[in-house]
Amino acid sequence: MPCPVTDFSAAFDPLDLSDPFPLLARARREQPVFYSPAINYWVVTRYADVKAIFRDHDSYTAANTITPIVPFSAAVRKMLADGDYSPEPVLSNNLPPSHSRIRAFVNRLFTPRRMRSFRPAIHEIAARGVRRIRERAPVDIVSALTYEYPAYVLFHVLGVPEADVPRVKAWAGNRITLYYGRPGADEQIALTRDLVPFWRYVVGLVAEKNRKPQDDLTSDLIRMRAGDDSRLTLNEIASCMITLLVAGHETTTAQINNALLHLLRERAHWERLCAAPETVPQALEEMMRYDPSVCAWRRRTAKASRINGVDIPADADLLLMLNAANRDEAVFPEPDEIISARNNLRDHLAFGYGIHYCVGAPLARLEMAILLEALTRQLPGMRLLPGQKIEYTRNISFRGPVSLRVTW
Ligand code: HEM
Repeated sequence: MPCPVTDFSAAFDPLDLSDPFPLLARARREQPVFYSPAINYWVVTRYADVKAIFRDHDSYTAANTITPIVPFSAAVRKMLADGDYSPEPVLSNNLPPSHSRIRAFVNRLFTPRRMRSFRPAIHEIAARGVRRIRERAPVDIVSALTYEYPAYVLFHVLGVPEADVPRVKAWAGNRITLYYGRPGADEQIALTRDLVPFWRYVVGLVAEKNRKPQDDLTSDLIRMRAGDDSRLTLNEIASCMITLLVAGHETTTAQINNALLHLLRERAHWERLCAAPETVPQALEEMMRYDPSVCAWRRRTAKASRINGVDIPADADLLLMLNAANRDEAVFPEPDEIISARNNLRDHLAFGYGIHYCVGAPLARLEMAILLEALTRQLPGMRLLPGQKIEYTRNISFRGPVSLRVTW
């Protein structure tokens, strides 16, 4: 086995998301699979390798996708046990056959038909958001609009009270730092204090919907359960809900922000969109390829394997660089250019691939397109304020600017 510690191993900081592309492009060419001692993961950068790993879910499991990068301390484990914190693997980090059973139910929530039924409400949420900022330029469009917009949409479809958006957003953000960042011992304890109330909130929500089902996706799941634990347990439904209440808005917020940043930075793209708002879906697809908000995702080897000539032991953790795979020149010619007319636009891996492919993709596509179209129609003069520093939070998976100052 070659020495795992290489040039790339030393240079790669998996939590620094400020400008990962140049180093990843070099790695993709020179050493497409390398070891990162910073987190004890093997890093995979080529499109074909990442896709093959996603496809082969027996050899590469999703068991580690919600594993904290910094293992929980004894104090944190005690806090969670004392607080009855008991989400179980249901979707992201679950394996077949349990994953297949639960996923079959959740798939039925996100059908195109069901998504279409939410279209008028999403239009209204987007219009309300744009109305609120119209007279306020210049603004930080993240704090003024895109931070909360996907949460309002998600809460509407899941049947969660809108008044709870601020606290659930805060809980979800902390959960990301806890699992995907590198908190110190005290910070880990502080972040965990939020996890227990978040879980209790979700358990309470499911109990409430169980008592009184309504016209929303949470109630749909309860109806599918039909009171039968062999189909789904209430704890499994609560575990799905806490997953959705993180995965269903942080990702979309960051993806809208990435799209706005690049379209406004190379403003000819923005102007073309304003002239032809019906091309927003293609532009968004290209933005997901160019700068995916889930920039890296994880898998674990079920047995010893060889990836692009590198021997990897069993039970090893892999970091699949979706942002590097999406810029693989073998699949996307001129990968560093924004080209919304690509003939393989939807081949990107921003939503993953295979049995864990993002179940919320239809909702994400719909809500992003509705908002971007509203912005191009109503604020076509939007531009970035010059001289601002674009900052990203330190974590391994979720990339999107923390703030974006714009005017019009
Ligand atoms: C632009 C926005 C989004 C991006 C970039 C994104 C990306 C991803 C990625 C990369 C995965 C992992 C796929 C894999 O392991 O193969 C995933 C899974 C998942 N996503 Fe999304 N996602 C987005 C929006 C959403 C939304 C809106 C929801 C829910 C309403 C959602 C719910 C989920 C769930 C539950 C999973 C786990 C699925 C499973 O393991 O079966 N995501 N997403």
